[in-house]
Amino acid sequence: MGNRQGGKRLKTGAFCLNTGNEKVKHILTLVSGNGSNLQALIDAERQDGLGNGVIAAVVSDKPNAFALERAKNAGIPAFTILPDKNLPKQARRLELSNRILAKALELRIDFIVCAGFLSILSGDIIAVYASRMINIHPSLLPKFGGQGMYGENVHRAVLDAGERESGCTVHFVDVGADTGQIILQRAVPVLSSDTPETLAERIHVQEHAAIVEAVRRMI
Ligand code: GRF
Repeated sequence: MGNRQGGKRLKTGAFCLNTGNEKVKHILTLVSGNGSNLQALIDAERQDGLGNGVIAAVVSDKPNAFALERAKNAGIPAFTILPDKNLPKQARRLELSNRILAKALELRIDFIVCAGFLSILSGDIIAVYASRMINIHPSLLPKFGGQGMYGENVHRAVLDAGERESGCTVHFVDVGADTGQIILQRAVPVLSSDTPETLAERIHVQEHAAIVEAVRRMI
């Protein structure tokens, strides 16, 4: 099924319009927490721009994420889409992913940026946004990625393994957890005095530069 602009009906029932001819590219940022990466994107958009991208909306899967405040302060529409606790894990992921996809299509989103988004996405959204959806991870993938590798867990594992270097990776999202094609990485040294917190802090600084550069490249 199509219309003048072209498009297709998805399993979720949503209609996906082709938006390739539009000049301004709409970015949806997915968040779960503090949102410092979102802030880096907001600041970059205001300062030197994100190519022809604009942060059109923010979606959080946590009601109290500070990232929602950051969006509000920047005048960006922000939505909370919560996982359904009554569903088993896989079904919960799929249902959440489908609701995010529906919102993205409703808002005519071109690109999705997972900037500290803790839920794992599955289903149609992966195919619909293939090569148009990226994630930032606080390690040098493929090392220290996958399920359970988030936040402090990552940095503790890096320190336990005696790594001399860590960093961050921005990659496309595919059906696996942290397995998509790598766009760019930025490395930092691991110091003998490091705790998970100090290492996280050093990496965070690099994340902010990395996510901005990756979004510009993707767009
Ligand atoms: C970052 O370390 C990011 O790599 C990971 O989650 C953290 C989010 O930080 N996926 P923030 O919410 O952007 O400050």
